Amino acid sequence: MVDTSNWFDALSETRQRKLLASQREGLWIKVQGQKLLNFASNDYLGLSTNPQVCAAAKSAIDSHGLGSGASRLVSGDDPLLHEFEREFAAWKGFEACLMLGSGMLANMGLLQALADRHTHIFSDKLNHASLVDGARLSGAKVHRYSHLDLNILETQLQKNTAAKRIIVSDGVFSMDGDAADVQALIDLAENYDAIVVIDDAHGTGTVGVDGKGLVGQAGLAGHVRLLEVGTLGKALGSYGAYILGSASMIEGLKQRMRTLIYSTALPVCVLAGAKQALNIIQQGDFIKKLHHNIEFFLENTQGLRLLPSQTAIQPILLGSDKQALDAAQKLREAGFFVPAIRPPTVPQGQSRLRITLSAVHHKQDIDGLIKALHAL
Ligand SMILES: Cc1ncc(COP(=O)(O)O)c(C=O)c1O
Repeated sequence: MVDTSNWFDALSETRQRKLLASQREGLWIKVQGQKLLNFASNDYLGLSTNPQVCAAAKSAIDSHGLGSGASRLVSGDDPLLHEFEREFAAWKGFEACLMLGSGMLANMGLLQALADRHTHIFSDKLNHASLVDGARLSGAKVHRYSHLDLNILETQLQKNTAAKRIIVSDGVFSMDGDAADVQALIDLAENYDAIVVIDDAHGTGTVGVDGKGLVGQAGLAGHVRLLEVGTLGKALGSYGAYILGSASMIEGLKQRMRTLIYSTALPVCVLAGAKQALNIIQQGDFIKKLHHNIEFFLENTQGLRLLPSQTAIQPILLGSDKQALDAAQKLREAGFFVPAIRPPTVPQGQSRLRITLSAVHHKQDIDGLIKALHAL
């Protein structure tokens, strides 16, 4: 008889992941009874607890109820989805937009729909797991290139004769905070007749004075070879994801994406909150505040082993799993919640602390964290 208690191989103590049942209270987070300042959230503008955003979501619950009840292809296709897709596409400068249940669903469904076993996918080695899994699911031949190494990517493209080629990259990299050169990727796509998928989950709402992200900043919005993906669960403070592209590409995805067709539609309350968050982002003040906080952090952390990043994601490289766990524990003792990130999320020997800054952190909060980091 199968022994289910031994189904999974045992993980070492430092490799085990723990779900901590942590409770967020604005800037704070309660973890195992201890109240800590939260530097571990992707809520980069603090909009997930913004009163106007929450009021919009509450009012949508009053009018529409909680869940959407079915897939968009059945009865879950509320008009607000279409309205928000039009608004989001116009803001980002693309012809069309498709909203999905989450970033994981968006990327897995997108690559599965775009590619098949005859397609070749060229993927940055540090791409998010959702892109890695989407590529696997598609059955495409995958070529991984060293992180941000465009020479290797070009060599791979030069040697390749496939009819359909897709370059896939995070925009702002989730565990490193550095950024893809979107213009260079588009140049390569033009030279080697490929298309480009950029996942700017961490750039949207944080990069550029208008928060339009890396693609907008590079002036490439709406480029015919480009599809942009991102999430509503980070700077927009809500949940869900978007895909942006040409009208014909988005229509093709609607016909083929299994994670759209076979998954319950986003609830209206979640969309209403995201829509209000977008209004706030367009006013600009929150992004300005986030950029000031990033500048302040960078000015005062010289001498620490920070990875090169100009974004809200500021990782400190430590090395072993134990070093990262010990550092995270010391920060907890000092009152700060900063996660230790370990393999397989990052490469072996590159365990790190991942600090995320938010527009709603106060100077004294960041200053306190910086002092604790120097003390480490
Ligand atoms: C770059 C990137 N893409 C996609 C996702 C997945 O998005 P979601 O959390 O909405 O599933 C994440 C993280 O959550 C991410 O960092």
